Amino acid sequence: MLILGKTSATESSHFESELMTGSTTAKIELRGLSQVFYGERDVVALESVSLAIAAGRFVSLIGPSGCGKSTIFNILAGLQLPTKGAVFIDGENVTGGIGVVGYMLQKDLLLPWRTVLDNVILGMEIRGMPVREARAQALPYLYKYGLGGFEKQYPATLSGGMRQRAALLRTLLYDCEIILLDEPFGALDAQTRVRMQEWLLQIWSDFGKTIIFVTHDVDEAVYLSDEIYVMSPRPGRVKERFDVDLARPRPRHLVNAPEFAVYRQHCLDLLSHDAPDEVAASAA
Ligand SMILES: Nc1ncnc2c1ncn2[C@@H]1O[C@H](COP(=O)(O)OP(=O)(O)O)[C@@H](O)[C@H]1O
Ligand SMILES: [Mg+2]
Repeated sequence: MLILGKTSATESSHFESELMTGSTTAKIELRGLSQVFYGERDVVALESVSLAIAAGRFVSLIGPSGCGKSTIFNILAGLQLPTKGAVFIDGENVTGGIGVVGYMLQKDLLLPWRTVLDNVILGMEIRGMPVREARAQALPYLYKYGLGGFEKQYPATLSGGMRQRAALLRTLLYDCEIILLDEPFGALDAQTRVRMQEWLLQIWSDFGKTIIFVTHDVDEAVYLSDEIYVMSPRPGRVKERFDVDLARPRPRHLVNAPEFAVYRQHCLDLLSHDAPDEVAASAA
């Protein structure tokens, strides 16, 4: 399927070949990550996962449950040391380093006793910014990104979509160039999810961050991404990487276009070899 500009694990993408010739440095590079969880039964979660992502890209990881997507994020965030391999950011080995990426888990994990504004500034406070200054900096963003007027409310009073906005804004204001989002919209209803995707693209283009996004939803991955990594079932490996060459900004009706359908089908084909039940669920 040349039309997709794909690269299998054994081929090199244009960007990867530039990397090898040293003419460019990846923003994020994972080199040969393997992860074994030792226990009564050892679990090989990842096997030789390598990827290279250029600055400012929106990249999705898709693959069946248990293929190690969250494990990759935990390693990138420095929360877990890989059994083998290394993480490079801007060419520097940062394996095991904490605080080099902003990481948002599927559950929004807002602190119930803090107002929306004080939740959003949490990352800034962790970075050492005085509370008053952090509040003053964050407030305009709340207004710009659809949380204006809610700043003094507590998370329990917000809708699921609003809570995810607050959690995403907090992650973005943590002042990291790289953002990891692990199924951030998984728990939202379909309409809210679509609105959140557009909101996220807006925020991504405003902030110019590099985003890695995990999702089970193939349409979501194609609509949002510049490139997609498809993983195989456990032990997780990169099965294929391909660019999504759809012009931006992407109107919503693009999901009905034939060129969109080609990407959707390609993802489904890659996934269906592995996990028919899950693909059926994500295609529904
Ligand atoms: N701390 C851990 N100890 C043992 N096994 C784990 C641990 N974390 C993850 N695993 C296992 O590793 C595999 C990959 O998990 P995970 O990265 O959460 O997958 P995904 O996010 O793709 O669903 C799964 O089989 C999971 O049960
Ligand atoms: Mg996961």
